[in-house]
Amino acid sequence: MTWINLGNPIPKNKVDKYSPYKWSTNSEFINLNEPLEFLPTAFTKVLFERKSKRCFNQKPIEKLSDLLWLTNRVKDAVNSEMGFPISLRPVPSAGAIHPIHILINSPNLDMWWRYDPFQHCLLPILNENHYFNNVRNDCEKILDCSKASLMILIAEPQKTLSKYSKGTSLVWRDAGILLGNLALVSSYLDINFCPIGALLPTKIDKENQLVTVGMAALDAIDIRY
Ligand SMILES: Cc1cc2nc3c(=O)[nH]c(=O)nc-3n(C[C@H](O)[C@H](O)[C@H](O)COP(=O)(O)O)c2cc1C
Repeated sequence: MTWINLGNPIPKNKVDKYSPYKWSTNSEFINLNEPLEFLPTAFTKVLFERKSKRCFNQKPIEKLSDLLWLTNRVKDAVNSEMGFPISLRPVPSAGAIHPIHILINSPNLDMWWRYDPFQHCLLPILNENHYFNNVRNDCEKILDCSKASLMILIAEPQKTLSKYSKGTSLVWRDAGILLGNLALVSSYLDINFCPIGALLPTKIDKENQLVTVGMAALDAIDIRY
């Protein structure tokens, strides 16, 4: 066995500055409504009933809104010396850095969308879209996702590395926590959800500032714009 030792993360005495990746934007966005109320369900019931589901149905965008709200929205944020805000969200993250972006695509939609956890909205992927061209076809070889939305977790490792020496494993652990919570909350919301082990696309930007750290297929979200 070859085990790649990612080292023992240690907070730096002085943090490094990092300029977050600049996603290209236009005036387009999809506003997600803040959920007003949730069905009370026993936490234990959600835990016992969660399982990976590999057949997919159509779901309204409110379901995606609830899923993102319950897992990833920013509850509180403060500026940091690292050059970007740190934030508190429903899921934990090493150093409150939250280096992971959530991207989503629905069947018959060329476009990919990125969740903005500060504004609770979806922003279109523009310049990077061509890197995602083959993702759906490649996922089809793993499981039948023709009727599924695809979710990709994309990290900016340098965010975490600006605070921690040997911090790579923290990014992977953040990804695992996020994926696990997405799976549990999907179960609560009656969204069929299955993690995918592949890591696509293998390249997302010219400078390799972004890397894929997780994928999932879920019920097809009706994204209209
Ligand atoms: C990191 C990770 C990667 C996975 N990759 C795949 C995958 O590529 N295809 C798939 O069908 N299931 C995948 N799964 C789902 C597992 O097969 C599933 O969790 C396992 O069989 C246990 O079933 P359960 O989730 O219903 O409890 C993955 C799960 C995890 C956590």
